Amino acid sequence: MPTQRDLSIAEFCCEMPKIELHAHINGSISETTMKKLLKKKNREGDKLSFQKDQIATLDDCFHMFKLIHQVSDDTEAAYTITYDVIHEFAAENVKYLELRSTPREVKATGMTKLGYVEAVIKAIQDCNDLDIIVKFILAVDRRNGVDVAKETVELAAKYKTLSNGIVIGVDLSGDPTVGDARDYIPVFEQAKQAGLKLALHLAEVPNIEETLAMLKLPPNRIGHGTCLLPDVGGSDELKDYVYTHKIPLELCLTSNVIGQTVPNFDNHHFSNWYKRNHPCVICTDDKGVFNTTLSEEYQIAAKTFNLSVDKIWQLSFGSIDHIFAEEDIKEQLRLKFLQFRPL
Ligand code: IMP
Ligand code: ZN
Repeated sequence: MPTQRDLSIAEFCCEMPKIELHAHINGSISETTMKKLLKKKNREGDKLSFQKDQIATLDDCFHMFKLIHQVSDDTEAAYTITYDVIHEFAAENVKYLELRSTPREVKATGMTKLGYVEAVIKAIQDCNDLDIIVKFILAVDRRNGVDVAKETVELAAKYKTLSNGIVIGVDLSGDPTVGDARDYIPVFEQAKQAGLKLALHLAEVPNIEETLAMLKLPPNRIGHGTCLLPDVGGSDELKDYVYTHKIPLELCLTSNVIGQTVPNFDNHHFSNWYKRNHPCVICTDDKGVFNTTLSEEYQIAAKTFNLSVDKIWQLSFGSIDHIFAEEDIKEQLRLKFLQFRPL
């Protein structure tokens, strides 16, 4: 009888049950969904994704998000994008997904932040016939200031109860070269008190002081953590803090290489942290913008770092420990993943 070991590494990465913990809704929009929305707005000629081999900068990425937001400007679009993104992750055997998104208002279409959050929650609820558990993290954009951040955390706290646990945490994201994350510390303290988990983009670019202050919150997980290590603009103190506190890292290989915060896959910080046995979770970040999938990200990890199918499976299985949902969901997922363990 054929076993998982008879699969190619590409097939194995695709068929293996997976966890996605770092996916921005609007950055995850697929070409198919984008075409559907562009058609509706009579903008069918627009091109809204990067080619894989195209060198872009972090600035280019943020420009792309602005373009996507022009298309995703009403609650119907927010619903469609979320619904489609969940189906796409489910189709590649993602069994547990934490989506994150910045509540946005667009006066011209009458979309309010509340309406946006409700559209996302409704799309999540409408996907409950699929074999995937979906949670929602509300994002604080560091470009928008502390008052907006406070409002986002209040929304998250309110919908944590109203959504029956779908809303589970808050994120810090946005252009890492803008503003000072330390301004948001009191807001994140407030989020913690409300029982929300913290998934913060940290050290995407070198900034030792800012990163150290944010680490002391501490976040439940770190997005990217690209510049924590001393040889890439971090410091021993940052590295030791993350290591000794075992703060999991959400690592997005293609995103970092296309965004040019990491020169190439071989030099990605994954290898350093993985070798230390530090909790690492492979994620996509923005699968639409970076034209990738979670299965491909696992394949890249396998190929670049010479990981066997056992190691790849363990990486996926180990990710369950770092999800924001409760222990009963973790147990449920572990049973499911164990059935796919290479024999
Ligand atoms: P949205 O929050 O669903 O609208 O997704 C797009 C937003 O995610 C962007 O406007 C950024 O604020 C954020 N984002 C996506 N990728 C990154 C990243 O790599 N670093 C920081 N922020 C990001
Ligand atoms: Zn991100």
